[in-house]
Amino acid sequence: MSLTEKPEETPERLAFYRKIDREAYKPLWAVFADIITPQPKSGCLPHLWRFQQAREWLLEAGGLISAKEAERRVLILENPGLRGQSKITTSLYAGLQLVLPGEVAPAHRHSQSALRFVLDGGGAHTSVNGERTLMQYGDFVITPPWAWHDHGNQSEQPMIWLDGLDIPMASFFDASFAEGYGEDEQPVTRATGDSQARYGANMLPVDYRQRELASPIFNYPYSRSRDALETMKNQQEWDPCHGLKMRYVNPVDGAYAMPTIAPFLQLLPAGFKTEVYRSTDATVFVATEGRGRTTIDGHSFDWGPRDIFVAPSWKAIEHEAFDEAVLFSYSDRVAQEKLGFWREHRGEV
Ligand SMILES: [Fe+2]
Repeated sequence: MSLTEKPEETPERLAFYRKIDREAYKPLWAVFADIITPQPKSGCLPHLWRFQQAREWLLEAGGLISAKEAERRVLILENPGLRGQSKITTSLYAGLQLVLPGEVAPAHRHSQSALRFVLDGGGAHTSVNGERTLMQYGDFVITPPWAWHDHGNQSEQPMIWLDGLDIPMASFFDASFAEGYGEDEQPVTRATGDSQARYGANMLPVDYRQRELASPIFNYPYSRSRDALETMKNQQEWDPCHGLKMRYVNPVDGAYAMPTIAPFLQLLPAGFKTEVYRSTDATVFVATEGRGRTTIDGHSFDWGPRDIFVAPSWKAIEHEAFDEAVLFSYSDRVAQEKLGFWREHRGEV
């Protein structure tokens, strides 16, 4: 028998399997090739969601249900290969959330970590652990595990952002807990910008001891991240597979900003074409600027600003930027690295 072939199913063997099956036994040799595969084998498929269509349907949903009644008014981006499971990859969730002017998405907390990536509108707020932050296009906002959070929109425009959560991971471990705060909004006890000043200015409080796994900064403004890419691009040092790719970090220890989700921002100069790349972390990409084409496992997707696409684990990825482009992305790389699973390959296999 090889790693990929199953032993023959003789009448004697099948009779034996049936006999032991009644008492909840299973012969490993009958399933080995299905569960220990030489390469990742996933139902997850590459796919692209056009923001323009999503926005139209979100606004339609806005006429059907309030943010408060829905708890969160979100359209889930379901991977076409994983329908009915509320997953964009095997381990991650994605949804697009709409908060209309004057609305509140009530305070709650859960064991799942969440990121927000702002795609439309500006000026709505997220409160986390007593601090309120105003959100603008491209801002990356974290709600850490078990942290109280609520959203409100006091601006004049509808606000839409991408929610990225580790819901499938929490479900896999059967570790989901959630509770409501009991009020629409938690009390604001800290000044806006406090955590940014305290932890995000290349300093830390002198006796600071790290207690949480997530970054104490919960808004990484796009203006800052984009400025950093803009300055670095002058150096013209391009990674052949990534262009210029940065990861969002926890300033306390340099780890990824979240314990289970790895967030990134990358710039591709106009005309840049990446070399083939594959890694075990299925990745959700959001085009924030520019236009381009990404080929995943032989399928090509043309994208423009705010479009969202997903690349499954270990499928060949090539990006081509038609003009200067910026991509936000997130994956489970941080979890895989901690658990010893993560692997990458550059170039053709
Ligand atoms: Fe939540």
